[in-house]
Amino acid sequence: MAKQPQKKQDHGTTGHEWDGIEELNTPLPRWWLWTWYACIVWAILYSVAYPAWPGIKAATPGLLGWSTRANVQTEIDMAEARLAPMNVKLEAADLTAIAGDPELQTYAASAGGAVFKTWCAQCHGSGAAGAKGYPNLLDDDWLWGGDIEAIHTTVTHGIRNTDDDDARFSQMPAFGRDELLEPVQIDQVVNFVMSLSDTPQDPTMVAEGAVVFEDNCAACHMEDGTGDRAQGAPDLTDAIWLYGGDFATLKTTVSNARFGVMPNWNTRLSEAEIRAVSAYVHQLGGGE
Ligand code: HEC
Ligand code: HEC
Repeated sequence: MAKQPQKKQDHGTTGHEWDGIEELNTPLPRWWLWTWYACIVWAILYSVAYPAWPGIKAATPGLLGWSTRANVQTEIDMAEARLAPMNVKLEAADLTAIAGDPELQTYAASAGGAVFKTWCAQCHGSGAAGAKGYPNLLDDDWLWGGDIEAIHTTVTHGIRNTDDDDARFSQMPAFGRDELLEPVQIDQVVNFVMSLSDTPQDPTMVAEGAVVFEDNCAACHMEDGTGDRAQGAPDLTDAIWLYGGDFATLKTTVSNARFGVMPNWNTRLSEAEIRAVSAYVHQLGGGE
């Protein structure tokens, strides 16, 4: 005999029964039901108002036209509008006058610092100290020149790239690979180069190397080895090395030559950004 449901008087049972267990027909609590209805209404309104249903190319846009991407763009536009007057001023200023205008210089150095971290740090290091093959921009040892105009030209057009006809260009011959010098002459000239920065070397090798140097290297690195900025030929006397000053590295440099490439930035950055980052580099410590 089936037991009587305890609250049968309330709502009865559904009539289902398993092994004497009956299913009560208790309705859902009111508060739960109304919350549920409210959720459904909310979901419908929401999916009409906001982007909701995924499509093949994009989701339904929603009547309110809300988009995180558009919001970011608006914020960027607002920031640019705020900075526009300073950028106009920066573009109009004489390059050499920037450093003398405190407001412009402060702006350029901070905007330029941001540009540097985004576009330059991967090669020159986040602190601009450089790495093998990538010059240190903190010191006063410049390949192509360290006044604001020279830096601006370097950054605008880049170095030895194929994208800008005005890129800075020069090419040291590969003295070993192209058999312009005998292996022994290369050893001699490397000895001479090392002696230029007061690293003690075999005096006979140095003397012979001096002759090789004068005949083959002085045209670019100058008779005294101090280099030539017009050709980006480094100073070999200062013990600051772009690629390395030990015998083996120097031998590789002279044998195969190097061909340091820097991109031109005139197609990627605005003139104001180029000026800002040039001013930033200029004020790092080595600016002339
Ligand atoms: C892909 C690597 C790379 C990136 C990115 C790069 N550089 Fe360079 N940069 C170089 C190399 C390599 C050289 C040296 C080329 C040579 O041997 O003459 C150089 C040289 C320079 C020089 C000349 C230094 C001197 O002694 O005359 C300046 C100034 C400079 N970079 C600034 C910048 C700035 C500013 C940026 C960012 C907008 C930047 N570089 C981004 C690779 C890079
Ligand atoms: C046509 C001009 C030219 C001639 C000739 C030339 N060089 Fe260079 N040399 C350069 C340039 C330009 C660089 C920088 C290359 C780069 O950054 O990619 C350089 C770089 C070097 C370096 C690297 C310095 C460093 O800081 O790591 C050494 C060493 C050097 N040259 C030695 C010589 C010697 C020795 C000779 C003669 C046998 C010679 N060069 C002839 C133009 C020249």
